[in-house]
Amino acid sequence: MRVIERCDEMQKLARSWHKEGLSLGFVPTMGALHEGHLSLVREARRHHDRVVVSIFVNPLQFGPKEDYTRYPRTFEQDKSLLEKENVDVLFYPSVEELYPQGFQTYVVVEKLPEPLCGRSRPGHFRGVTTVVTKLFHIVMPHEAYFGKKDYQQYRIIERMVMDLNMDIRITPMPIVREPDGLAMSSRNRYLSPEERQKARILFRALELAKECIQKGERESSVLTEKLKSFIVNEVPEARIDYVAFVDALTLEDVSRLRGHVLLALAVFLGNTRLIDNCEFFLEE
Ligand code: PAF
Repeated sequence: MRVIERCDEMQKLARSWHKEGLSLGFVPTMGALHEGHLSLVREARRHHDRVVVSIFVNPLQFGPKEDYTRYPRTFEQDKSLLEKENVDVLFYPSVEELYPQGFQTYVVVEKLPEPLCGRSRPGHFRGVTTVVTKLFHIVMPHEAYFGKKDYQQYRIIERMVMDLNMDIRITPMPIVREPDGLAMSSRNRYLSPEERQKARILFRALELAKECIQKGERESSVLTEKLKSFIVNEVPEARIDYVAFVDALTLEDVSRLRGHVLLALAVFLGNTRLIDNCEFFLEE
């Protein structure tokens, strides 16, 4: 596996692969890799002649009070995991390489970033769409893979690619969970052993929602209240950021559940903000 740190070197290699007619799959990450990331890498490996994974902790997508400086950086471990998956290139640029002095161009999707995580993380998705656009221009993939744990991010990138006529297929991949149901996330490392136990509450809330919906409940306000009280009763120290039922394409709130609906949750345990979600396909 080759490690490339420079944008021009990555672009040159991608161009030569294009010339040879090779297909290129891409997995953008911020490192601290887990099985969720590796499932994306394996899917890219199954479908493409060449696979590039990027590791870049993107300062643009962290708010001033967020965890940019303490975000886990585990380069050597990540590198050996990617070597085992037969990745061709690990693209590993520095902040100065991606955002040289004078950088002042951003990519903004207008509406999809407003609800859910966008409400409590202003500017976050602008940082994501800007870095992903840059990475797409540098790596020039035919297909890029995103985990559905960050469902809003996936929909925003899908929209951006459509709106800007980027010739890249965006493939969402299912959430990968720990044996007890907790969605895998690099931020799970922040949890103390007690918080880790309690973190299961997100998955349990999703299970409760499934049960209520199976029994026929369709009113979003009834379900939302039920889930919120379940979470705070079971884990009083949990701070709910949001519990929301939204249209899975537009991410707008729905009052009655029908069609393709997303239940999305964000909950703080201590200083750690955890997210999870579940899709429902309901008859009209
Ligand atoms: O999902 C992530 O890890 C990041 O938001 C991404 C897509 C790599 C952009 O920095």
